Amino acid sequence: MKQSLLTILRNKNTGLIEFRNATKKLALILAQETSNHLEKQEIEIITPEGKTKGVELKNDIVFIPILRAALSLLPAFLKFFEKAKVGFLGLKRDEKTTIPEIYYKNFPQISTSDDVIILDPMIATGGSGEKAIEILIKERIKEEKIIFVAVICSQEGLNRIKNKFSKIKIIYVQKDLELNKNKFIVPGLGDFGDRYFGTLNHK
Ligand code: PRP
Ligand code: URA
Repeated sequence: MKQSLLTILRNKNTGLIEFRNATKKLALILAQETSNHLEKQEIEIITPEGKTKGVELKNDIVFIPILRAALSLLPAFLKFFEKAKVGFLGLKRDEKTTIPEIYYKNFPQISTSDDVIILDPMIATGGSGEKAIEILIKERIKEEKIIFVAVICSQEGLNRIKNKFSKIKIIYVQKDLELNKNKFIVPGLGDFGDRYFGTLNHK
């Protein structure tokens, strides 16, 4: 299912509605997959017929969607994790230098026990991901409490983040091997934000 949804996203003939629908479904699968990596605790409950043991998530969750593109993933994640807090981080890659500029930051109180989940569908050079993690670490969040969720990452971007932050878990659908001269992922899917928000012709 993940691969067939990714195929829809990759296809340059996929239109806006289909792109949005495939993203929504893929985000639900990624949200479910993310839950496998979160700490659980055993609890005792009473069913109408007797006692049993069950599980619940141990820690509170904070999502950090990197604007804009990760806004596409957020609704699905909030469907699974209804009590999660959300902190927003606006980063925009400079088209020439590819260095990400911060244009917005609005974080909730994040406690040291919270599981912090960064959402960004694309890891290309890894610059935006690296910047987001650096900002969280400055806020005293421990690497081991951070999970990064992406759709496509490049080998280069993945290496950059893993080499610098070895304790961060990165969940992704697909790793692609190349970046082109504009530092876009190849074969990738193009500009995720522009395809999802319908702004492809604004450039
Ligand atoms: C895209 C994408 C990532 C970043 C990845 O965002 O959503 O945030 O580029 O590239 P990198 O790994 O080389 O930093 P973009 O800056 O285009 O902003 P947008 O989400 O507003 O489209
Ligand atoms: N951002 C995207 O949306 N796609 C890429 O391939 C690289 C950066």
